[in-house]
Amino acid sequence: MQWNSIQLKQEKGVGLITLNRPQAFNALNSELIQELNQALDLLEQDNSIGCMVITGAEKAFAAGADIKEMVDLSFPEIYLDDFFHLADRVAQRRKPLIAAVSGYALGGGCELALMCDFIYCADNAKFALPEVTLGVLPGIGGTQRLTRAIGKAKAMEMCLTGRQMGAQEAEQSGLVAQVFAKEQLLIESLAAAEQIAQKSLTSLMMIKESINRSFEVSLAEGLRFERRIFHAIFASAEQKEGMRAFIEKRPAKFKPESSE
Ligand code: CAA
Repeated sequence: MQWNSIQLKQEKGVGLITLNRPQAFNALNSELIQELNQALDLLEQDNSIGCMVITGAEKAFAAGADIKEMVDLSFPEIYLDDFFHLADRVAQRRKPLIAAVSGYALGGGCELALMCDFIYCADNAKFALPEVTLGVLPGIGGTQRLTRAIGKAKAMEMCLTGRQMGAQEAEQSGLVAQVFAKEQLLIESLAAAEQIAQKSLTSLMMIKESINRSFEVSLAEGLRFERRIFHAIFASAEQKEGMRAFIEKRPAKFKPESSE
């Protein structure tokens, strides 16, 4: 497949998507969002892939939605087209998804990172939701996901002022899982992704589904859901393999049941 605004690599069970619009700090235009989703579709359908990583360039993960593409759009145009609905599909992915953020993750770039399951960032990362300075507001989930990630006080402050948050503060606030030197970011992100990809895809997807459920339902409902899918995983060959491998003191060998 020919890509224009992204690059796609697959290795060791990991799909690596690199946003590639250097001329615009990887601003998310329609083509980039479409290609990103096409690549994610391919990776989700590929049974050999257990984890996906989205990254950008050293200076910018992504500087937001493409302002030049949006500036003259009318309300009927964006409403009828349900503008950004395609971007939301990133959050609906079922396989684990890591954002590896270096440099700017602004507006839609920060929202894209927030749609991933966790964020690793470089020490030069800068996160912001600066839409307020453009006379708009975050439109790809920023007000909702940033608030869930770092709490109301900091989310309000960031969205109302548009200020940038650096890597250390992002880690202390719980926005990112770990901070690395910028030369190490991709190495560490791919290492984590490869480690994840070796696990049972069924348990990975169930863990992701269960944690995400915790944001939407009461504790009692979430616990019931977790318990039921814990029961269900005993129907998988991977549960038998994982537990037998432990008892037999050997590494477990997991592969998707559909490819057996
Ligand atoms: N959309 C379109 N083009 C963008 C862009 C964006 N979000 N961000 C940067 N660019 C373009 C610039 O227009 C410029 O292009 P030209 O060379 O053709 O002029 C090029 O990238 C380089 O940018 P700068 O000259 O501004 O570079 P800089 O080093 O001075 O600043 C920056 C870098 C801090 C990232 C700055 O470009 C910036 O603030 N960008 C916009 C950030 C922003 O407001 N993002 C939110 C967008 S709205 C949104 O995302 C809505 C939503 O909820 C989905």
